[in-house]
Amino acid sequence: MKRLIILAMLLTAMGTYAEKINININIATQNTQLTLQVKDDGRLYQTYLGARLSDHTPLATLDMPRMAGASSIVTHGNEVYPVMGTEDFYEPAFEIRHADGNPTSVLKYVSHTQKGNETIITLRDELYPVTVALHYEVFPDEDIIKQWSEISHQEKGKVYISRYASSMLYFEADRYFLTEFTSEWIREMQMKTQELFFGKKIVDTRLGTRAALFAQPFFEVGLGRPVAEEEGTVLMGTIGWTGNFRFTFEVDHQRQLRVISGINPDASTYLLKKNEVFRTPDFYFTLSQNGAGEGSRRFQRWAIKHQLNKGEDDRMTLLNNWENTYFDFDEKKLTSLFEEAKDLGVDLFLLDDGWFGNKYPRKDDHAGLGDWQATTAKLPNGIPYLVKKANETGIAFGIWIEPEMVNPKSELAEKHPDWILKLPNRDTYYFRNQLVLDLANPRVQDFVYSVVDNLMKENPQLKFMKWDCNSPITNIYSTYEKEHQGNLYIDYVRGLYNVLQRVHANYPDLYMMMCSGGGARSDFEGLKYFTEFWCSDNTDPVSRLYIQWGYSQFIPSKAMCSHVTNWNRQASVKFRLDVDFTCKLGFDIGLADMSEQDKQYCREAIQEYNRLKPIIYSPNLYRLMSPYDGEHCVLQRVNDDRSHALLFAYDIHPRVTDYQLPVCLRGLDAEAQYRVREICLMPGQQSWLDCHDKVYTGDYLMKVGLRVTSGNALVSHIIEIIKE
Ligand code: DGJ
Repeated sequence: MKRLIILAMLLTAMGTYAEKINININIATQNTQLTLQVKDDGRLYQTYLGARLSDHTPLATLDMPRMAGASSIVTHGNEVYPVMGTEDFYEPAFEIRHADGNPTSVLKYVSHTQKGNETIITLRDELYPVTVALHYEVFPDEDIIKQWSEISHQEKGKVYISRYASSMLYFEADRYFLTEFTSEWIREMQMKTQELFFGKKIVDTRLGTRAALFAQPFFEVGLGRPVAEEEGTVLMGTIGWTGNFRFTFEVDHQRQLRVISGINPDASTYLLKKNEVFRTPDFYFTLSQNGAGEGSRRFQRWAIKHQLNKGEDDRMTLLNNWENTYFDFDEKKLTSLFEEAKDLGVDLFLLDDGWFGNKYPRKDDHAGLGDWQATTAKLPNGIPYLVKKANETGIAFGIWIEPEMVNPKSELAEKHPDWILKLPNRDTYYFRNQLVLDLANPRVQDFVYSVVDNLMKENPQLKFMKWDCNSPITNIYSTYEKEHQGNLYIDYVRGLYNVLQRVHANYPDLYMMMCSGGGARSDFEGLKYFTEFWCSDNTDPVSRLYIQWGYSQFIPSKAMCSHVTNWNRQASVKFRLDVDFTCKLGFDIGLADMSEQDKQYCREAIQEYNRLKPIIYSPNLYRLMSPYDGEHCVLQRVNDDRSHALLFAYDIHPRVTDYQLPVCLRGLDAEAQYRVREICLMPGQQSWLDCHDKVYTGDYLMKVGLRVTSGNALVSHIIEIIKE
């Protein structure tokens, strides 16, 4: 009898097992396909990632090479979520230390569901009660795939996870070229390309708060050839995490490329409680068969529609006082700037750093951070008076805050020393004379939320906030994380999101600029809460052409703040403004510094900007001439029905020996007739472009092109192209 029962159990198990092998799971957008398969060992493998195949292609015939090496080990190869402790000796996506100290796992397929655009695949360890759910969400029309993982367990005792990728993908090509986006203060988003050979290349950050100071959370990989603008297969990926991230690119001995994306697990071995679900950040990617240009258009369209806060809404032009006054202002000065904002014709005045602190007034960056009350000596009537005055002048009002930070010289630091990240037994290290508040602590989250909430309750007419974050986490220790400091970097970011969710839920109409000492925060999870971000403190228009070229690979123009300032006075005000015109336009300059002619140019350009926002903010960007290739930069935006386009042409530092070649446009209707007209001319100036006020077919514009560059340095043209 006993034997019979065992036999029956075995047969049932075999039945279930047989049902669970050779299952194919297809995850597809309009143009891309990712196919996964459960093989006869019950584990999940990637069998295909590439251009979408015909619906008639039998999925079972797809496969990538098996792992074979000099040793006798041969495996099925590309495990979707490879673990530490099996026969794959490359970088795993997942590593766990079980309560009994065992550091290995073997994840087997349990089930999967596909509902609408989401696929969830559940894997479970064959021995331990550990579950990993792999999530895939597709955006078919925009050709973006979003991926994340959810990890949980029911073990008794302490379980630590030390690797927990959001995504792992495999590629097969003869060569791989990685383009990364290196950064530094005033040198954001510099594109650098290198070929990948056997071994690992890691792009990561460990800075905590000002996370992307040295490396931005974006990458591109050219498969078979370096990334080109409109040709070739390009993988473009990014992680939505406003903290430490890591991308690992590993070429294995079979010349396959493995790409692992997620939170940077360094210094973040995470203590995972029983039944807690550890959700990794979202990884987003697109696989373009037509160069980075197509990938950028997909990302921008997707972000506008699905990700960016108020993605489909308008944006406000503004005048900021930072570069103009720094900390040196008072009520009288500010109200005179409201008049300047009105005179220019912008929508909003943005009051920057230096308006708060009484016991320790914020007169420079040494004191006051944390004390969010207006400095009475400077602003005797407080913020409500300024908001009222601005509104009476006919402009909206916005304000700067840096609520995650504190100066030791502040009442907040005196009152709540335990709210500050700081080592109890070592010297404290300061960055810009400030420290980071412990956002892992819910009481600190309440405080940070209250900074926004108090300002909004006192000033319901506030329309805009610039949320700055100037310091990385310099002293990684929390008095709140008593049980395990390893959770701190992660809990910090989650705490930040808790605050931002509350702000967003209670003040949905508030426009917010994400800023981090320039552009050290630019990720897509942040942009769920922020309507825009500050790309860089570098506002030299020539540098900006490169910085904005970099961000435009992924981010829509309406999210990229670009302000006219006095950086690079060799460049005319027109050239400076024309560079900012392609993004979210603002000013950070005093009108007193400008000639009447320049002021008039700005007034007229703002009107043109307002008129042309639908084209400027369109996701259809064509980058026609790269500043990285030499002396010029030419960009084009087109609306969806191809009836209206703008061309932006900049001569940077050409040599007289150069030949000026025509620039071929893209994305137009070949059959249609278009009138070409240079706009945004200096007052009284005539266009000297041959193409000005002429009519051409789309075919001509795309095949013959227009001569819009010159041999003169720092010259710019904005050209409107309208279907007749
Ligand atoms: C850094 C920002 O990038 C600047 O725009 C300005 O807001 C300063 N912080 C203020 O301290």
